[in-house]
Formats: sequence, structure tokens, C-alpha cells
Amino acid sequence: MPDADLLLTGISQAVTPRPGGPHRGRAMSDLELIPDAAIAIAAGRIAWVGSRSDWHGAAEWEIDVAGRAVIPALVDPHTHLIWAGDRFADFEARTQGVAYEEILARGGGIRSSIRSTAAAGVEALVALALPRVQALVASGAGTIEIKSGYGYTADAELASLEAIAALRPLVAADLHSTLLIHVPPLEAAMRGDYLAMACDRLVPQVAERGLATAVDIFIEREAWQPEEANHLFDAARSVGLAVKAHVDQFHAIGGLEAAVAHGALSVDHLETSGPDQIALLAGSSTIGTILPGVTLHLGIAAAPGRELIDAGAAVAIATDCNPGSSPLFSTQQALALAVRLNGLRPAEALIAATCNAAAALGLGDRGAIAAGQRADLAVLDDADWRTVAWTLGRSPITRLFLGGKEISL
Ligand code: NIG
Ligand code: FE
Repeated sequence: MPDADLLLTGISQAVTPRPGGPHRGRAMSDLELIPDAAIAIAAGRIAWVGSRSDWHGAAEWEIDVAGRAVIPALVDPHTHLIWAGDRFADFEARTQGVAYEEILARGGGIRSSIRSTAAAGVEALVALALPRVQALVASGAGTIEIKSGYGYTADAELASLEAIAALRPLVAADLHSTLLIHVPPLEAAMRGDYLAMACDRLVPQVAERGLATAVDIFIEREAWQPEEANHLFDAARSVGLAVKAHVDQFHAIGGLEAAVAHGALSVDHLETSGPDQIALLAGSSTIGTILPGVTLHLGIAAAPGRELIDAGAAVAIATDCNPGSSPLFSTQQALALAVRLNGLRPAEALIAATCNAAAALGLGDRGAIAAGQRADLAVLDDADWRTVAWTLGRSPITRLFLGGKEISL
């Protein structure tokens, strides 16, 4: 029996994915539930978990969580928290029937966020992003991915990634950065030069400076084409960066196929993925990340979460928090919405937002309550864990421990 720095007791249920994820298909409903549990923490890691009556070790400190359920802290594997300006005019236009893609093609949408983000310095970007990160943490997220992508020029993309690095010491959550090559120049003749700049200069520089661990690209009719994405994937992999992609959001144009062929960690969105894409993803090691906030905010089709799991895929959930397609500032609400909008069952949604979301970032050391995992734990407001999938409109997370330390919410 190990010694512990901290022993959590009074846990009505410790509820966790089985260790060794990601889990796919039917295994996504296999949660382990330990009633009347205790969790021992040593040096920021989980040292032991089991029935309270089976703990016979010594603990320096004990916290009684008063009959509440405990789950792993959530992981949010897809956000765009670095932006300046707003998209209220786009939002209003969409309520009058103008389509998101049309706004983008006219030079608005993502391109308007690029203009305002380029005009802000690193310090301003940090100040704007900080409360957004804090909101996700308050909703239970202990690990958050943040993309650049509203920078456009090499210098502006680097500034966004520097802003993420500057946020790190300011927040308790573990932040992971991704370089996103978001939209091409509007002038067709400039696409090749821009892509060459991204592949030959930006990606190697980002890798050399350790500013991101992955590269992402938006593959869509109004954005990049699969053949263009292939060049970026090759450039990323040649300098040891992982690959991710925004695919099948409005049209399935081969983005998922290109990303899976390059061993992508995840393909994200999937709203228009059909049977061929679902079968391909289910037969691969790539995680399918669904983003229910986009369905809610843009009113587009929901990604086929149910079909993906039934086909045997590994599904993750993220907020996609961004000003244009998903102003969703709660990782827990993304989990709860995936149950309503994407047909996930509560157990599947919990696995999708914990160990599978960690796997979408290439992380295997979190997302389950098991010996050796990071002690990232969320205490719920109820004795029954299902409150995390049921609650809408307020946070059911009452206490959060990250790396074994309680943080204030
Ligand atoms: O994940 N689809 C492309 N990119 C973002 C949207 C960004 C925006 O509209 O500002 C997304 O939906
Ligand atoms: Fe996104």
C-alpha cells in the first residue's frame, strides 16, 4: 500500500474509463464505477484507488468530499481561444439567413477575425484569452488544446502561439498548442506561395521553437483542398509534429481520407461524414472529434456520433470554442450537448471527453482514475456521476484537483 500526500474520501462513486484508452466502439460504454471510494494521491499522480474500506496506507492529508461523485477532469482537445474582435455582425447576418460559408467567401467570418487578431499584440491576446481559458477550467477542463489560426501571416501565427505560451504560467490547466493553417488567400494565384511559406518556413520554425506539438488545417470547399493539405501534413511530419484536420464540416471533399492516410491524431467536425468516411475512420487509429457547439450555434447537421461509435470508431468531444462557429465556453456543456445532439450515451460522452479526448492530443497519462495517471479529478455536485451529462446551463463541477492540487473555481 503506497503512502499518500492526499487521500480523497467521502466519494459516493469514483467513475472512470478503464485505463489503456483510447476506447472505441462498444468499449466506449464500459465505465468502471467504484462505490464508497477513496483516491490516494502522491507527487501529483494517482497512487491508489479503491473502496474506502480497503485503504490501509498512511496519508498526510485527507479531504472528505461529502458524498459526491468523482470523475477524471475533462480534456478539451479543440479550441480557438486566441482571437481579438468579435463576430456579432456575422451572427446577426446569419439570423437573417446569410450562410456561414457565404460570409467567409465574401471576406468576412474567419477572415474578419484574422484582421482584428493581426491588429492586437501578444499582450492583448493573452488578456483576451485568459478569461476564456478560466471559463473552460471552471467547467471541469484540466487539459486544453488551443490553436492559432487567426494570425494568417507567419509573424501573426507565431504571435498567437507565443500568446498561448504566455498563458501557461497564468492558469492551472495544462495547455497544448496547435498551429492551424486556417484559410487560404482569397486570390487564387497566391495560394501556392502561402502554402509554401507555411510548409517551408512556418512549420519548421514552430517545431524548432517548440511552440506547438501539432499542425491542423481546415479542409473545405471554401478553404484548403486535400492535395494542398497533403503538403502541409508532409511538412509537419518531417519535423516531428503531429497532424490534425478540420474535415467534412460542410462538404465531405476528401479531407478525412487525406488526414487518416497521414496518420492524423484526430479528424474534427465530421458533420457531413457519410458511411464511407465513418468506415474508414473506424478502421484507423485516428480519433473522430465531434463539436456539438457548432451544431447548436450554426444550426448545421450534427456529426454522426452514434454511427461512428456503432461502427467501432474512437470518438472524442470538444467545445471548438471560437467566435464564429461555436461560442461555447464550457467543456462540460459540450459533453452534455453530445448526448442530446450526437446520440452519445452518458457513459460514451464521459469517455469521449476524458481519455479519448486526451488521446486526440496524443496523451496517455490522463483521462482515467487509475494508479500512475495524473491526479486530475473533478468532484461533481451530486452523488450520481450522470449529473455531468444531464446538467445544462450551470456547472455541475464543484471542486477540481489538477496535478493533485485543488484549484479555486
Ligand atoms: O472549427 N471551421 C473552421 N474553423 C473553425 C471556425 C472558426 C471561425 O468561424 O472563426 C471551426 O469551426
Ligand atoms: Fe475548430
